[in-house]
Amino acid sequence: MRKPIIAGNWKMFKTAAETEEFLTAFKPLVAEAKGEVLLCPPFTSLETAVKVCRGTNIQVGAQNMHWEKEGAFTGEIAPGMLTALGVTHCIIGHSERRQYFGETDETVNKKVQAAFNYSLLPIVCVGETLEEREKGISKEVCRRQVEQGLAGLESALAAKLVIAYEPVWAIGTGKTASPADAQEVIGYIRQVLGEMFGPETAGQIRIQYGGSVKPDNIKELMAQPDIDGALVGGASLKPESFAAIVNFD
Ligand code: 13P
Repeated sequence: MRKPIIAGNWKMFKTAAETEEFLTAFKPLVAEAKGEVLLCPPFTSLETAVKVCRGTNIQVGAQNMHWEKEGAFTGEIAPGMLTALGVTHCIIGHSERRQYFGETDETVNKKVQAAFNYSLLPIVCVGETLEEREKGISKEVCRRQVEQGLAGLESALAAKLVIAYEPVWAIGTGKTASPADAQEVIGYIRQVLGEMFGPETAGQIRIQYGGSVKPDNIKELMAQPDIDGALVGGASLKPESFAAIVNFD
């Protein structure tokens, strides 16, 4: 049985003080959550988030990292710096990073390997753009992103990672993929994982859906056989709405 994992991606929202305020309200609301709860605030809020979440069921992740141990990479954050803070997860290859910051399947692959080297669990984002969807190539795009992003990874490590299927046209638009459409692509991603790592490992990898997840659509999405969680943007910014998503059942 795969344990559900609901994650909040705050993107470029909230100062450290706002993070503390959010968590003070949010912690008691999710104390009985059945699945895993993860929050990914901006870098500047990570230390506060780790401190406030210590001893609770809320885990803290970053939204990006570099793959090198250290070096002359102005403005970047190394994986070991995240581990040293007590961060346990890192989102890798979010579509906004691919679209605005030149992230490629190759850099995603380097980051995935580096994350494991520093005991960080990657949440690897894949998903097609509207144009790709209209061309009918959603599955091919996801296959390429999964195959290239996870190339060379050992099965034992692959079993631990999380994949987030986020169709780009559904992010921040209020348009959610229908549960059936999300299931179809996510089921296909699991098939590709099976070809790469074997069916047993593919059956252990958790795959989230992301893109306009809200308290009123989470239940239907989670009812799909291959959907194991959600990566939530806008609706994770308010304690009540994120808690309603975490406590969907
Ligand atoms: P929204 O939930 O705001 O659509 O964002 C989804 C997302 O990009 C999460 O990573």
